[in-house]
Amino acid sequence: MNSAMTTHPQTGRVVFLDGPGDLPMVEITTPWSTAEIHLLGATVTHFQKRGEQPMLFVSKFSRFEKDVPIRGGIPVIFPWFGKPADKPGQHGFVRQQMWEVKEFFSPPDGSVFVRLHLPKVGESPLCPGAAVEYVIGISEQLTAELIVTNTGAQPLVFEDCLHTYFATGDIAGVSVSGLTGQEYLDAVQDFLPIMDAMPAIQVEQEVDRVYLNAPQTTEIRDEQWKRVIRVEKENSRSTVVWNPWIAKSKRMQDYGDEEYLQMICVESGNVRTDAITLAPGVTRSLKIKLSSLALA
Ligand code: BG6
Repeated sequence: MNSAMTTHPQTGRVVFLDGPGDLPMVEITTPWSTAEIHLLGATVTHFQKRGEQPMLFVSKFSRFEKDVPIRGGIPVIFPWFGKPADKPGQHGFVRQQMWEVKEFFSPPDGSVFVRLHLPKVGESPLCPGAAVEYVIGISEQLTAELIVTNTGAQPLVFEDCLHTYFATGDIAGVSVSGLTGQEYLDAVQDFLPIMDAMPAIQVEQEVDRVYLNAPQTTEIRDEQWKRVIRVEKENSRSTVVWNPWIAKSKRMQDYGDEEYLQMICVESGNVRTDAITLAPGVTRSLKIKLSSLALA
């Protein structure tokens, strides 16, 4: 399969193709940027502004196979985060399902939007009545919006997270700011609550932190690539910061032993005690806006 659809004469372009592992994907070109979206997990696997390094990291060892989540990009985590005792598997089940494209649209400014949905997700007893859509916007920035509606008769309780893997130059020159003075649960220490008193997070060991009640913008400063990435979000009370460091990298089958040097996850969602309860008939959307600026 290889069909092209021009969404606007000189502005946005969308191409469907078979990607690695013959999995269906979409390539998008706009006047500012290029992007790739896999239908497996609705995973945005690439976003790059012209003249810049890629914004997203994907492992060279990622399996591109049906029913297996992609290691990198922006996996969509729903309807639960982590591995609660009463749930089968880690991080929900939609990141390894095949989503469908519902529509493309391209406003006159040349940006491109893709609306995906996951048919029948609400038939699962794990999120009964849930209807789920995901709208990705590509322009000078990347936006992603996970829209959940409760079409059932009972309240719908869920966690969500846009598990974003950011590409970095060298992790030694990376710092994440915006979370100072905020308490986090340290997953490396069995979710011990700790007050973050540092001006910025620097990665010098395994970092796996869940900041609750943290709706604010964060910034990832990268000294090697001379870039700041800004992570703005709406309807997200939780921020997760993760880098596996050396030992965990070696344990992960679909991840290179040294790739921890090239990425950091700053994830936006609503997890643990920030979980969402949606009344019947109500819609809620979790949105992120990712932008970047060159450092002088
Ligand atoms: C992060 C978790 O969100 O995802 C980490 O905080 C976890 O604990 C990581 O290791 C990757 O999870 P997975 O299921 O993709 O290997």
